[in-house]
Amino acid sequence: MREEKATILKIENLTKKFNLQSGKKLTAVDNVSFELYLGECLGIVGESGCGKSTIAKILTQLESVTAGNIIYKTKDITNLKGEELRQNRRNLQMIFQDAAESFNPRMKIDDIVSEPLLNFKLMKKREAETEGKKLLTMVGISEEFMKRYPHQLSGGQKQRVAIARALSVQPEIIVCDEATSALDVSIQDQVIKLLMNLQKEKGMSYIFIGHDLAVVRNISHRIIVMYLGRIVEVIDSDKLVTDAAHPYTKALLNSVFSVKMKNKTEIESISGEPPSPSDIQPGCAFSSRCTKCTDKCLKEKPELKEIEANHFIACHLFKE
Ligand SMILES: Nc1ncnc2c1ncn2[C@@H]1O[C@H](COP(=O)(O)OP(=O)(O)O)[C@@H](O)[C@H]1O
Ligand code: SF4
Ligand SMILES: [Mg+2]
Repeated sequence: MREEKATILKIENLTKKFNLQSGKKLTAVDNVSFELYLGECLGIVGESGCGKSTIAKILTQLESVTAGNIIYKTKDITNLKGEELRQNRRNLQMIFQDAAESFNPRMKIDDIVSEPLLNFKLMKKREAETEGKKLLTMVGISEEFMKRYPHQLSGGQKQRVAIARALSVQPEIIVCDEATSALDVSIQDQVIKLLMNLQKEKGMSYIFIGHDLAVVRNISHRIIVMYLGRIVEVIDSDKLVTDAAHPYTKALLNSVFSVKMKNKTEIESISGEPPSPSDIQPGCAFSSRCTKCTDKCLKEKPELKEIEANHFIACHLFKE
């Protein structure tokens, strides 16, 4: 029997089109639906330009939607404005790749972390300062760095400060968009461990976005694979290497785990570039790079369907 999980965020038929100067429309996100379960880390992976950051920006309301809905618990938060939007930002925090760029360079580290507590009027100054220190200690920033300015910290330290700042308002959801991608591998591992520990401790839900399948798999319970604005596969992380079935996911896997995979010979490596999102053709978006492409693939867009429990795929090779 399928285990029922509580949903904290539901994305329904999300589409985002940008108007280009040429007069064309660019489809960055194309009819995407998924759920984030309470307490899970949901990974979103795919090549650069497939729409990951656009989804993150829409979820944190830095971009508007063209169509679709975002439901937080039972509330439709798609088009919140003013104070409602501000309050909602408390529940849903985002950590970017270059989070430190949004820090005020003239503010000291401890003030950067306690500022959201004051902005949301959650604490008085003295209390917020104590909480800020506590958070910084928790993310491994020692006292000597707390009174420094952002430019005096390393990239890894600044990313830890960004995590502490996002955590300060006790959000229920954190969206990490390439949050560790710019860091050296060893620092990246440390920050990921920190994120994983915090999640367990605080019971938060994460959306962890990245272009590196190995990194995303490490931290996530489930993985969404995207290609040209659409979801092509959804699979549990622990089944990714053995059960992934979409030709694109397999090609991605082959480029990452080639040494460790069984049945390696079945897998083609990926070549070429994805088509332009401003010139989307009918049929499967992956057809121009897929070695299994048939006539049907050129004519009909494959819809996402569940091929086995909790495993969804958008490819004509598979039946529900
Ligand atoms: N503000 C914008 N105006 C026009 N096109 C955009 C804008 N933001 C993103 N795009 C385009 O949308 C597509 C998806 O981008 P993005 O979501 O940043 O992808 P990813 O994060 O997966 O690399 C890309 O083709 C990108 O060029
Ligand atoms: S639908 Fe066709 S072109 Fe698309 S991934 Fe499946 S086999 Fe390849
Ligand atoms: Mg991005």
